[in-house]
Amino acid sequence: MSKRTLPLGHGELLELAMELPTPFYLYDEQAIIDNYRAFKEHFSWAPNFKNYFAVKACPNPTIISALAKEGSGVDCSSLPELLLSEAVGLKGDDIVFTSNDTPANEFKKAYELGAIINLDDITHIQFLENTLGLFPETICFRYNPGPERTGNAIIGNPVEAKYGVTSAQIIDCYRIAKEKGTKRFGLHTMVASNELDGTYIVETARMLFELCVRIRKEAGVAISFIDMGGGIGIPYRPEDSPMDLGFVSREMKKLYDKIIVPSGLDPLTIIFEVGRMITGPYGYLVSKVLHVTEKYKDYVGLDASMADLMRPALYGSYHHITVLGKDREEHDHIYDVTGSLCENNDKFAIDRPLPKVEAGDVVVIHDAGAHGHAMGFNYNAKLRSAEYLLKKDGSIRLIRRAQTYDDYVATLRFDGAPVRI
Ligand SMILES: Cc1ncc(COP(=O)(O)O)c(C=O)c1O
Repeated sequence: MSKRTLPLGHGELLELAMELPTPFYLYDEQAIIDNYRAFKEHFSWAPNFKNYFAVKACPNPTIISALAKEGSGVDCSSLPELLLSEAVGLKGDDIVFTSNDTPANEFKKAYELGAIINLDDITHIQFLENTLGLFPETICFRYNPGPERTGNAIIGNPVEAKYGVTSAQIIDCYRIAKEKGTKRFGLHTMVASNELDGTYIVETARMLFELCVRIRKEAGVAISFIDMGGGIGIPYRPEDSPMDLGFVSREMKKLYDKIIVPSGLDPLTIIFEVGRMITGPYGYLVSKVLHVTEKYKDYVGLDASMADLMRPALYGSYHHITVLGKDREEHDHIYDVTGSLCENNDKFAIDRPLPKVEAGDVVVIHDAGAHGHAMGFNYNAKLRSAEYLLKKDGSIRLIRRAQTYDDYVATLRFDGAPVRI
């Protein structure tokens, strides 16, 4: 069981929702930092342990910068994510570039920043060399175990996944990179997403440790770091429990001592690219109830829509909802909680027991701090909401203003700019 927390009291949040245009996102900076520190602390035994925060989870420079001050790196998957990371002063070994189907200009920028480049395919070795006119001294490969592992519901079966180098190709990747002059090698994988069962992570570590030994034997390459990817889940449902990171850490250490130390590969740096687990629980979507309607079912219509938070519509994900000021009332009404898009799946919750809701009530949608605002979009010309940061001293900062109509039309050319005449 996990307890749902709010960053402020119900009264303070209600006041805020009257003061600021809704919907908006609110992140709790100190809770994010404490969470990051606790994650790192679990792995204090691991040589040079570091998390590279997955920028895609929450691409806001203020949050990235707060994490970077704590020693976090970043995992980037695109050119704009690289540019955002550069903008907060990150470069070199503080960036891992884990992309797929990568355009040449993105590899160029990653190299220019000195980022660790993580290649998704064996053909990308030549593509990267052609693009840069050289081959990097540090390289990492993303491994896809295929039939050797099962994935989970969100990430799917590895055999069906477009990512990574196969078991049959992986040794050749390191051989070729070594021939091209690479001196420092990494090994990456990501086979689970939003996983709460720690054994998945332990088994991933076992797989990578054993693969390090195989690579050493068959390619004559000593891996310097393994990248365990992201994918640590958070307890979205009240009945869920967070992943037992103490268990994960202890079991990984046992495997490290059993597999890595005797093989002479110690010290082997261990890194993660966790995003969701760091910011997810400490981001909140605050929205007002516009209408409560009784049709064949009862509906609570919010001023937020799936354009603000797509996860429930995309994955059928559960996000807990608190009706501010009514938490202690009987949850004896069953509602679908919707947005206003012309899409019937624009629903934050289906058949959710809630207290009696009225127009004007304010709701908080929990666990929206990762893959939340970031996945927003403009369908129905909906404008993206603002993001605010609650600071340790209780002050609140605007860290991304809401999109305006002018932003929305900024890329349009009403006059039809001549391209070919
Ligand atoms: C390559 C890679 N690394 C890291 C992450 C972050 O995953 P999470 O935020 O679930 O930890 C993702 C998520 O899609 C990913 O694709």
